[in-house]
Amino acid sequence: MIAMRACVPRAAIAWWIAQPPGSTDPRLGSGSKKTLEASRRLTNSIACRCQNRVREKVVIVTGSSSGIGHSTALDLARKGATVYLAFRKHKIGEAVAENLRSSTGNRSVYFLHLDLTDFSSIRSFVHEFSKREQRLDALVNNAAVFHHPPALTGDQIEVTYQTNYLGVFLLTQLLLKDVQRSPASRIVFVSSAAHKLVSEQDLLHYDPRELSKPTTFADHVRSYGLSKLAIHLFAQYIVETAPGVLVVLVDPGNVWTPIYRHSWQSWSEILTRLKCFLFMKSAQEGAQSTIHALNAPDIKSGQYISSCLEVEGTQSYDTTAVQRLIAHSAQLTAFPRHSDTTNDPSQTRNKTDNFL
Ligand SMILES: NC(=O)c1ccc[n+]([C@@H]2O[C@H](COP(=O)([O-])OP(=O)(O)OC[C@H]3O[C@@H](n4cnc5c(N)ncnc54)[C@H](OP(=O)(O)O)[C@@H]3O)[C@@H](O)[C@H]2O)c1
Repeated sequence: MIAMRACVPRAAIAWWIAQPPGSTDPRLGSGSKKTLEASRRLTNSIACRCQNRVREKVVIVTGSSSGIGHSTALDLARKGATVYLAFRKHKIGEAVAENLRSSTGNRSVYFLHLDLTDFSSIRSFVHEFSKREQRLDALVNNAAVFHHPPALTGDQIEVTYQTNYLGVFLLTQLLLKDVQRSPASRIVFVSSAAHKLVSEQDLLHYDPRELSKPTTFADHVRSYGLSKLAIHLFAQYIVETAPGVLVVLVDPGNVWTPIYRHSWQSWSEILTRLKCFLFMKSAQEGAQSTIHALNAPDIKSGQYISSCLEVEGTQSYDTTAVQRLIAHSAQLTAFPRHSDTTNDPSQTRNKTDNFL
């Protein structure tokens, strides 16, 4: 009985704190929802006010089932872009797309299945997209996981690394020809301040084929940081090898989204979690740096947009480190294959071969 009494409030509080903004669970009354939203709004009120530069553009947003990706897709649909939602959940994909179509009046919102933890799914996604569209004006690489339970993917790669980086590497490489067909294309990489917590040397010594077993929160942040740092090095590679494509990295800041569903499970962390819930951005606010990256007129390729929408200079990483990472990534993803109709297959193959 005593155990029951202790257990009920604990579970109820944990459940309540676990609800990310935008949760439609009827158990959270609209009054309390509004109060909590208002308290968050007091601390975060930055919004992109750029002129619409995405109307009639073809845009893919990965990880658009929830959080920042969903808010980005909503903004794109409102602004009249053709939006491809790309994520894993087959079952809700069509419903999410229909919801965006009906709430914005934009009929050009589509769902295409994409699982970044499966290289064959990435290839199928690109194949399907290329059948439908002649060009890609913007690719928003937004999907990611954090604090994921230890696992290797079916491709035998550590799950966080493949979802957040290696899958993104393959997807971007395979779509590059479509991106380059557009006269003013952009590739946006959603990064995180966590990339600053690790070094290029850490990344080069990391073997994603080994199952790491992070035990502390700091271990998880490090593993996540490695995947995000790899994104930065890859972005530099794209800037150097694909002139004409505007590459932008963004930091959304601390945003209350389902990405935290694997974290904060112990009772001792609940107060921290409550603090985060109250003071973190909503998904809509967190999407502003991505929206800015898609619409801002005066960004140079390789620049980084902070969560306050300040455009920061390009960080330059060691060229040898970039080359080694790209070569290793090409090897792990078996890119390019003969069947990959890259923009210039001979050039891409020579570039990666040199690094091996
Ligand atoms: N929230 C923050 O505080 C924060 C801070 C810094 C950076 N970020 C970055 O912001 C981006 C968006 O995150 P979020 O906070 O909005 O999280 P989120 O709501 O959990 O969204 C992540 C999205 O990624 C998708 N995804 C996960 N694994 C996938 C896979 N294997 N294949 C395809 N899609 C997959 C999820 O779709 P499923 O439904 O298929 O799982 C979901 O749509 C991420 O890059 C994250 O690193 C977030």
